[in-house]
Amino acid sequence: MKRTLSVPGLAYGGDYNPEQWPEEVWAEDMRLMREAGVNLVSVGIFSWALLEPSEGVYDFSRLDKVLDLLHDNGIAADLATPTAAPPAWFFRAHPEALPTDRDGRTLSYGSRQTFCPSSPAYREAALRIARAVAERYADHPAVVMWHVHNEYGCHNAACYCDTSAAAFRRWLRARYGDDPAALNDAWGTTFWSQWYYDWEEVLPPRATGAVPNPTHQLDWRRFCSDELLSLCTAERDVLRAAAPSVPATTNFMVMANFEALDYWRWAPELDVVSNDHYLMSTDPESEIDIALSGDVVRSLAGGPWLLMEHSTGAVNWQPVNRAKGPGELRRNALAHVARGADGVAYFQWRAAKAGAEQWHSAMLPHAGTDSRIWQDVVRLGADLKALAEVRGSTGTAEVAVVWDWDARWALELPSQPSGELRFLELVRSWYEPLWRSGVAVDFVRPDADLSAYRLVLAPSLYLVDDAGAANLAAFAEGGGTLAVGFHSGAVDENCHVRLGGYPGAFRDVLGVRSDEPFPLLPGAPVGLSGAVPEGATGTLWSERLRLEGAEAVASYADGPLAGVPAVTRHGYGAGAAWYLATLPDPDTLAAVLDRVRSEAGVEPVRSAPAGVEVVRRRGPEADYLFVIDHTGRGASVPVAADATELLTGKETPGSVTVAPGDVAVVREPRGR
Ligand code: GLA
Repeated sequence: MKRTLSVPGLAYGGDYNPEQWPEEVWAEDMRLMREAGVNLVSVGIFSWALLEPSEGVYDFSRLDKVLDLLHDNGIAADLATPTAAPPAWFFRAHPEALPTDRDGRTLSYGSRQTFCPSSPAYREAALRIARAVAERYADHPAVVMWHVHNEYGCHNAACYCDTSAAAFRRWLRARYGDDPAALNDAWGTTFWSQWYYDWEEVLPPRATGAVPNPTHQLDWRRFCSDELLSLCTAERDVLRAAAPSVPATTNFMVMANFEALDYWRWAPELDVVSNDHYLMSTDPESEIDIALSGDVVRSLAGGPWLLMEHSTGAVNWQPVNRAKGPGELRRNALAHVARGADGVAYFQWRAAKAGAEQWHSAMLPHAGTDSRIWQDVVRLGADLKALAEVRGSTGTAEVAVVWDWDARWALELPSQPSGELRFLELVRSWYEPLWRSGVAVDFVRPDADLSAYRLVLAPSLYLVDDAGAANLAAFAEGGGTLAVGFHSGAVDENCHVRLGGYPGAFRDVLGVRSDEPFPLLPGAPVGLSGAVPEGATGTLWSERLRLEGAEAVASYADGPLAGVPAVTRHGYGAGAAWYLATLPDPDTLAAVLDRVRSEAGVEPVRSAPAGVEVVRRRGPEADYLFVIDHTGRGASVPVAADATELLTGKETPGSVTVAPGDVAVVREPRGR
């Protein structure tokens, strides 16, 4: 059964926590939600302590009223299971369910998500409250979606207690079979006398004297992701049993500071993919982070998705929390829509006056409606209403970027040749020039069907299995253009080095072979010469590379590898494969990727001035062009002769003008 969200048009709203306020405030909430055009709110996320005052005793009186009130006001509910915040009484009865960190410290309750993911007592209690909520509200007319838990793994992605150790062993036995020999082989435990004779000897990678085994750590990360996923699917099943037609979601965190869950494994388990995204105050170009995150989430969803949380202004969990500048709320929200969001929501509806998030922005600020944020929130509601027809349309791309959580985790394990390598930074470095040139991008797993793409980029694929490597090589052989970043293909799925030279799995397709990495020290770039801009440099990485069929596009100009190829191109089958054995400076990387892109025949969505983002969503009858001005100067962009700008409702034949710092959304009818 395909379960979809039944809110008409684009969804708009936020986390609604009326339990933080006396009931007199709720009527005002309804009035203001209607004024802002809110049509979907997430309720009950952290309400466990109030819903179940003691084990098995429920008090739904408040939630009954809230859901009725929402329904009476035409606002739909994304009803949460409150399992991200177990009450104090639960931990007093089950202290063993508290999580233990890597150093063996047991954490206390008193915040949220402080439970051991493998605790049987937690699982039982979570499923009990989920069932109680599901059975009570399965047929409530306000409930259009289940919000399972909240941000799985945000605070408790790993627990190192004995219960978790036993669960880890069960997971390992399912992976390797009952004989520990297969585990010993996969982990390479003859090294440092780590051989296991008995499963009971196997532990989580707790704090120890020196570096733990890499495969041990990688399997631990895989286990932690799967363990939380099993909690999510268990709750989902309880919800489905009570309400088979109501879709279920949980809010992902595809954003800069979270990496714990392999969302390729999570996304197929959910009816609706939703994501939370927050800006990092230190990012001078957070519009690129929004785009990257949106492209990843759309790719996970395989189509439209929901923005479950972002912020109207500053958050409260960074060292200094930057507020949004003029027009930024609108640009941010519509940029998510441009990347495929069929709804936009915030944390949270009304700014809290007490509690840990009292200094987090909200749709309705402490200052009330006489505030810039409120004005922007009301305007955004009208904008989203005007964009209703965009719902269901999605991106189309000819470029795919390979994104793999195993590769991400493995790259960042300790004791690499360089401790400076960060998966997301490498992917973003390659993504930036694509964003600047206005090229549409999907993200894919290494073993994805690549037939829709002309160009596939693998900026950082340290770990790849044979099937993934063969898939990428077949893509080039069949006529595609492939570009691979340094230190890719180095290890297999067990984190074992691929022997015979680097970049292991990709030597053949890339037509190169390296016998030794020469990581570059921070602040000590190497010069590059050849078909690269004057003064080009490389950072992070270099290696002694030999051509074995490829041609050198650029070489190191100085240092111990002077004259050695640094960027190469290899004609392979009907296509070509490029290798970037260093991270070129941004201008050089842009120049190289421009060349790769034009060789692949990939064009921008629409030609536009620098700093003007143009993104397309394609629907059955029309294309929707989102034009977002990040220059602060405004711009004009060519559009079809029969185009209409949806936010103003005006026809814009031939070109659309976007005001400084503003957004335009243009409908271009298709099938002309
Ligand atoms: C996360 C949580 C919310 C809130 C916000 C604050 O996204 O899901 O409950 O804590 O962060 O930014």
